[in-house]
Amino acid sequence: MKIFYYTATGNSLDVAKRIGGQLYSIPQLLKENKLEFEDEAIGIICPTYVWSIPELAVEFLDKAKLKTNYFFGIMTYGNMDIGVKNHFVKIAKKNNLDVKYVKSLLMVDTALPLFDIDKQVANLDKKKTEENLAQIVKDVQNRKVEVDIKSPIKGSMSDLLYKMQISMQKSKYKQFEVEDSCIGCKTCSKVCPVGNITMENNRPKYDTKCIGCFSCTNNCPVNAIRVKNERSKARFRNKNVSLKEIIDSNNQN
Ligand SMILES: Cc1cc2nc3c(=O)[nH]c(=O)nc-3n(C[C@H](O)[C@H](O)[C@H](O)COP(=O)(O)O)c2cc1C
Repeated sequence: MKIFYYTATGNSLDVAKRIGGQLYSIPQLLKENKLEFEDEAIGIICPTYVWSIPELAVEFLDKAKLKTNYFFGIMTYGNMDIGVKNHFVKIAKKNNLDVKYVKSLLMVDTALPLFDIDKQVANLDKKKTEENLAQIVKDVQNRKVEVDIKSPIKGSMSDLLYKMQISMQKSKYKQFEVEDSCIGCKTCSKVCPVGNITMENNRPKYDTKCIGCFSCTNNCPVNAIRVKNERSKARFRNKNVSLKEIIDSNNQN
């Protein structure tokens, strides 16, 4: 089994590691232009951005040639998944991939302007993440077939929501402010999945390609990157994923 994942803060990589198989990072494959794969089972694991799958996952599915009899997708999300499963199935279908299993999984929400991470983590038990993940792991092991995307309203909205994601991204690079506590360690640049951050005078400089994933600020070792309208200064990286794993997954340098 091969798993293709994209993660900014580790939730989706945590899920990928638990499901197992050979793991491949989508930003790395796009960087290296490695896009042809075949296996008995192939899965995509990624976060939900604005109720749709991230642009990086769409780009990968549009460019890749994947051959398998069991194609599945798991989208992690923080509060409302709305049409994300529909969007995944739609993009897969467009690329001649027949989805056999799709699930969304409720985890910590990393949208910093909307949620306080400390409160999110404190209430994690209520999301039943572990229980639901254990079921997903079992389902994939058994190659279960289940594509539950019944709601027509949600389905028809998925194109619109994806367009919203892309249009909201356009100004995201403007939302960061770097505090004097920055030590110029370049971690922000290394964890950025789209290579949007370079260093200038030992400080991060944001270009305009930002996708608003918050990987830079969540993974900053000294918590020196503030986000406009952030709910609190608390930051998040999934406890089962190391900083090195995020760097290895995303580094475009
Ligand atoms: C830009 C952005 C948009 C998001 N949009 C949604 C959303 O529409 N619905 C939702 O439930 N969670 C949303 N989230 C939360 C993430 O999908 C969730 O925290 C995910 O597990 C993060 O995965 P990762 O740690 O692998 O990056 C969003 C997070 C970010 C950063």
